[in-house]
Amino acid sequence: MEAFSNSFRSDLSQLMRWRRDVRRFSTKPVDEALLMQCLDTFRLAPSVGLSEPWRIVRVTSPDARAKAIENYQTANAEALEGYDGEKAAMYSGLKLSGMQEAPEHIAVFCDDETTQGSGLGATTMPEMRRYSVVGAINLMWLHARANGLGMGWVSILDAPRLCGDLDVPPSWSLIAYLCIGWPETNSTTPELETAGWEHRHPDLHIESR
Ligand SMILES: Cc1cc2nc3c(=O)[nH]c(=O)nc-3n(C[C@H](O)[C@H](O)[C@H](O)COP(=O)(O)O)c2cc1C
Repeated sequence: MEAFSNSFRSDLSQLMRWRRDVRRFSTKPVDEALLMQCLDTFRLAPSVGLSEPWRIVRVTSPDARAKAIENYQTANAEALEGYDGEKAAMYSGLKLSGMQEAPEHIAVFCDDETTQGSGLGATTMPEMRRYSVVGAINLMWLHARANGLGMGWVSILDAPRLCGDLDVPPSWSLIAYLCIGWPETNSTTPELETAGWEHRHPDLHIESR
């Protein structure tokens, strides 16, 4: 393989800088081939013991999508109850999912009982299977952004309820509910930072021992 060029390195850095968690989508559909290309990035991802424990469910039926949106609304209302005063007012003003508008909903699971990889690395630390799925999602996130698509990760959900509604096997745990579509805006600043909820910390928390 030839070395990557300076221009590629610069573009890659820009890609990471411009990747955002997107919650504001236009309703323009996503081309099927492009979506499949995004999902194909899972094949390139590292996984503990090469277990490839990711399981992907495209949530396409109106019924399943409606149940997921209702799940989010209930969970979000419950989450709001955990805040008081100014923080509660701010939380209620945040847009924390683009589920209504996003043309594509993808639920990503980890098969905690996969035999692929024969337990290598996961016998001692079974959580590594789930971390492998998270790593794969990040590859897809970047690939989507490189193609102009936005992706938003929704975790304000009752996971067992979602697993039941999507009728997935008991060994699958929910890792991510992803909304994919064309972003309304692009920015180098996380939306939570713009909204004043939180900001990126300047300290990387690196220690030496
Ligand atoms: C595991 C995970 C779960 C997340 N869940 C949510 C969520 O439920 N709702 C939301 O609005 N953003 C969610 N986010 C997005 C984060 O808020 C976002 O990554 C963070 O604010 C930094 O912004 P950026 O991704 O645009 O850099 C999640 C991100 C991750 C990595």
